Amino acid sequence: MTVSRESRRTPPGPRPALPSWAVVSPARLEHIERVAALASRWAEAMGVPDTEWQRWLRAIWLHDALRDAPEEELEKWAPSSTPGAGGLRHGPASAARAKAEGETDRGVLDAVRYHSVGLAEWDMAGRMLYCADYLEPGRAHLQAERARLADRFPQDSGDVLREVVRLRLARAVESGWPLPEPTVRLWNSLAVRDSG
Ligand SMILES: [Fe+2]
Repeated sequence: MTVSRESRRTPPGPRPALPSWAVVSPARLEHIERVAALASRWAEAMGVPDTEWQRWLRAIWLHDALRDAPEEELEKWAPSSTPGAGGLRHGPASAARAKAEGETDRGVLDAVRYHSVGLAEWDMAGRMLYCADYLEPGRAHLQAERARLADRFPQDSGDVLREVVRLRLARAVESGWPLPEPTVRLWNSLAVRDSG
């Protein structure tokens, strides 16, 4: 079954969009729209059913919903996560708020909560969001390499996910940043185990 680009852009029923409680800058909104456009391309190429596509869209529109919220609001929704650490609080805060507003899908909430650091147990919504967030064309670094990975996702999403984790870990090492433990755990769950 093929689904036309047009029908995917205007699916039946309420179309997920930025929640009313979101705090995002205009540039952030453009980023979210580019993530949605890339995921739409993938969903179409992969023949993703509409119910799954709706989950992807909810994860996409929610993931950065509190990215530009003031620190007090992030503290309120994610009191146990590290303040100010590279924006690591907005995922947990956005997920907590989405849950309070009625989102019940565990996979969607996990996609949002862990999108900055990764989660080894992710379902396809989490894997898609982690990749689309990083591979959308608006980011300045590694443009050609990221575009190639974006093109490959529908055929080989597992391999592309591993490459995205590899690039993100490599960047952290090169920059002298600490490695987020969930990212290392995600990498270990995907890495080829015949290195010895
Ligand atoms: Fe994002």
